Amino acid sequence: MKIKVAISTAILGLLVLSSSLSIATSSPDNIFLDKNARFHPVISQLGMVVSQEAIASQVGADILEAGGNAIDAAVATGFALAVTLPRAGNLGGGGFMLVYLADKNKTIAIDYREMAPMGANKDMFLDPQGKVDNQKARFSAQSSGVPGTVGGLLYALDEYGSLSIEEVIKPAIKLASQGFMINHDLSDSLHLSSKRLHSHKASKRYFYKENGDNYLPGDVFIQADLSQTLSRIAEQGRSGFYAGKTADLIVSQMKRSNGLITLKDLANYRVVERQPVCGSYRQHRLCAMPPPSSGGIHLIQMLNILENFDLKKMGHNSSAYIHHLVEAMRSSYADRSLYLGDPDFTPVPVNQLIDKAYAKTLSEQINSQHARISKDVYPGLDKWISSEVTESEETTHFSVWDKQGNIVTNTFTLNFAYGNGIAVEGAGFLLNNEMDDFSAKPGSANGYGLIGGAANAIQPKKRPLSSMTPTILFNSHNKPVLATGSPGGSTIITIALQMILNSTDFNMGIAEATAMPRIHHQWLPDAVYYENGISPDTLKNLKSLGHHVSSKPRVLGSTQSISRKGNNLAGSADPRRQGASAIPQKTK
Ligand code: DON
Repeated sequence: MKIKVAISTAILGLLVLSSSLSIATSSPDNIFLDKNARFHPVISQLGMVVSQEAIASQVGADILEAGGNAIDAAVATGFALAVTLPRAGNLGGGGFMLVYLADKNKTIAIDYREMAPMGANKDMFLDPQGKVDNQKARFSAQSSGVPGTVGGLLYALDEYGSLSIEEVIKPAIKLASQGFMINHDLSDSLHLSSKRLHSHKASKRYFYKENGDNYLPGDVFIQADLSQTLSRIAEQGRSGFYAGKTADLIVSQMKRSNGLITLKDLANYRVVERQPVCGSYRQHRLCAMPPPSSGGIHLIQMLNILENFDLKKMGHNSSAYIHHLVEAMRSSYADRSLYLGDPDFTPVPVNQLIDKAYAKTLSEQINSQHARISKDVYPGLDKWISSEVTESEETTHFSVWDKQGNIVTNTFTLNFAYGNGIAVEGAGFLLNNEMDDFSAKPGSANGYGLIGGAANAIQPKKRPLSSMTPTILFNSHNKPVLATGSPGGSTIITIALQMILNSTDFNMGIAEATAMPRIHHQWLPDAVYYENGISPDTLKNLKSLGHHVSSKPRVLGSTQSISRKGNNLAGSADPRRQGASAIPQKTK
């Protein structure tokens, strides 16, 4: 026994010695141990998957190990999240995927956002008095857009993957049919949403025990109907969801719940491959999601504005720094409310909005000594709109990087946690409430306090405006160095902004960049939201500059990011929400 211990200690000693030697002899690019960092990433020299849920990250990492590329791993992770993270991972929702193809040095954007059904119309969420009926817009079956997730994941696999549908869906089918162990996060989250989910027969049956009790950590959770739906997709591809039995089940649910989606709507669902919106920030270049997401445009616009200031000199999270960020956010979100919508229905002035000269004029409107008042920044609205911005844990982001250098960064969602709470009886999955991301009435706020107008009005087949911002940052040699994204509704874009500023101006490693306290402003309501860790002195300074600081801190988003330095990938799962995990690809 003693001999064994001595031998293993010696081996350990050798390992430590050889690893320190290899660090000492490798090029600076390969050194990842930043002694000044308080947070450290997971490192791999092969591939990496980072997602909100550990089992789903492992599914992706296993696909990489089996020889799949980043796209195969992303599709497998996406389907696995539909099983293991039902509040946000989904078959009944939609999202956006950014893919970087290493051999072509090209980034493409896959839009699989939900589409409004043919039966939708501009005034569908107004009551007889002309007021927005938020219950209808957020929690009825009519709040569901035609789901895009299955189309989007299969499109990505078909165009850019290397494995078969069966191979990438198999782990999800197994997780659904044989079950997996409920963790604290899922148990808590189902508990928090139990009132809403209990009010729909199928949702109650799918997500709670037979007697209606909550699943506890350690319980095994089996989803037999969902596994059948996944098997139909594995066997029939797109038709396993948009036609045949699954489509019939969706339409029957619509009839029972007074929803709008028809067989024709499902057959007509289209994934759109778009050009990403790209820009630059100091010596970096970046690409992100174009409309119908507002994310890419406003991320680049805010960076363009901020490029005119020496943020580094102000100091990270100082009041001067936060003041300038807030003012850039204020201008950008004001523009969002007027110009942004589905580009297939409304012309979006993308080039003007991301123009550096336009950003310069906006930067000149920023007074370093005074906060502006939001209603003066955009004069189109004469009334202050003071809807509270709320966020629960709904959308989810994941990033994948393979050893060939291909990248997928993907955000998908049901909108609110568990969407509208309505599960499709017999099919085992929940429906989204993404129709609330349209502007139900000019000037009235959606679930995230966002205001919109005609450009984002409801129309059949149109896609609601989104804030989802999967992003890839490139260095001055045009090599990708960071893939990131987050949930958080309206706060997603400002979270991506801070990830980029932390990584560039402040040279933080990815784990440090992730952990830093964040702030948010979105023009209306005119309030600075902040996380714990922004000091009382800083908040006091912000108030004296004239900012309306929110009464209490909140948690902003949950980024799942990967960065690259030399031959190393560094993954960081956001510690803000339980259960997230960065899993490196195993060596064979
Ligand atoms: O597309 C959007 O912008 C929203 N439906 C995203 C919702 C969201 O991020 C919720 N997550 N916390």
